[in-house]
Amino acid sequence: MPDIKFAKLVVLINCAVPITLLGWDAYNHRLGANPLEFATHTTGTLTLVFLTLSLAVTPLRKMLGLPWLIQLRRTLGLSAFFYGSLHLLCYVWFDKAFKLGAIGQDTLKRPFIFLGMLSFLVMVPLAITSTNKMVRRLGGRRWNRLHKLVYLAAAAGVLHYYLLVKADTRIPLAFGSVLVLLLIYRILHKFFPSSTQRIPARQVK
Ligand code: HEM
Repeated sequence: MPDIKFAKLVVLINCAVPITLLGWDAYNHRLGANPLEFATHTTGTLTLVFLTLSLAVTPLRKMLGLPWLIQLRRTLGLSAFFYGSLHLLCYVWFDKAFKLGAIGQDTLKRPFIFLGMLSFLVMVPLAITSTNKMVRRLGGRRWNRLHKLVYLAAAAGVLHYYLLVKADTRIPLAFGSVLVLLLIYRILHKFFPSSTQRIPARQVK
């Protein structure tokens, strides 16, 4: 069993690297010809990356027989929420100048914006209930059921991405394929638990 505190710190530092680099490049005016677009795209991609990583934790810990990996999931999930909030801020600020009416209209008119909003809104209760106190308050079963919504957030995020790209759909399709594989794993694990994990189920919560 590794030093969990150290592992958590390593993950946290890695989660903070992209925002540090983005901030540094922005400070040095190195975000290219359209810095606002660059910031929107970068934060959008990071949201999906961290969401996918947080979803990969459970399959990995079961397949590799590393139960302690679960302790790293919260940092990854909260990082997804953090980058998602920045992404939303970029849109609300740079695209819409904080005009709520225009944001509402855009959300209803453009399916890709609607899906982005849906993905983000689904992440809000998950972030709020991510503390140990909230896990205790909700109870393990209810908490787990609620947190299955992370799949909805990821699926809406992938569709949002797929709909907004004009020609080259390879990257959103790659994210979609990983998500489908993770879902297949979860379904297999539900019905055939012994075939999907290396260590006995009672040792892996
Ligand atoms: C909160 C509501 C959201 C809004 C209003 C929003 C809006 C946008 C906009 C305007 C763009 C740029 C579109 C373009 O240049 O044509 C974009 C790109 C993107 N968004 Fe969102 N988004 C939201 C939530 C999300 C979420 C939750 C995710 C991930 C789960 C996400 C992932 C992405 C990705 C991956 C891109 C494209 C990045 C790239 O082109 O490299 N977005 N979003």
